[in-house]
Amino acid sequence: MPKLVYILNGPNLNLLGKRQPHIYGSETLADVERDCATLALELGVQTRFLQSNTEGQIIDWIHQAREDGAGIVINPAAYTHTSVAILDALNAFDGPVIEVHISNVHKRESFRHHSYVSLRADGVIAGCGTEGYRLALRRIVTLAGADA
Ligand code: DQA
Repeated sequence: MPKLVYILNGPNLNLLGKRQPHIYGSETLADVERDCATLALELGVQTRFLQSNTEGQIIDWIHQAREDGAGIVINPAAYTHTSVAILDALNAFDGPVIEVHISNVHKRESFRHHSYVSLRADGVIAGCGTEGYRLALRRIVTLAGADA
């Protein structure tokens, strides 16, 4: 059985491609999902690509990853800067975690410079556009290994 990597997306990322394209680009989340699935095949892992606008749903998926996930790629979106609850959930997950931001949060408003999730993440990728997801997936596979 190939290892399963969760790729979790927080609020408003369902609007990717339509929302502030000068910041987040024109690719949709479906495009990102497709690109990640293609890369996952190449890397010999499975991906579960999920998005929610609700904090509790993201926490429930992190809990599920405790059961069957080898690693987590997470773009917590605005919850990055606010959610101790997502940090706590990630702290209860044993595998590698890579945090992704499409935009370079450090070039933006100061409230985006702090991340609760970075206190847990093994790596952080910011400002690489949607390519950041594929970079993160490669890193998760390096950390978690490809086979069961
Ligand atoms: C984001 C950056 C966050 O500050 C913002 O709230 C998002 C997206 C990014 O991918 O660049 O919604 O996580």
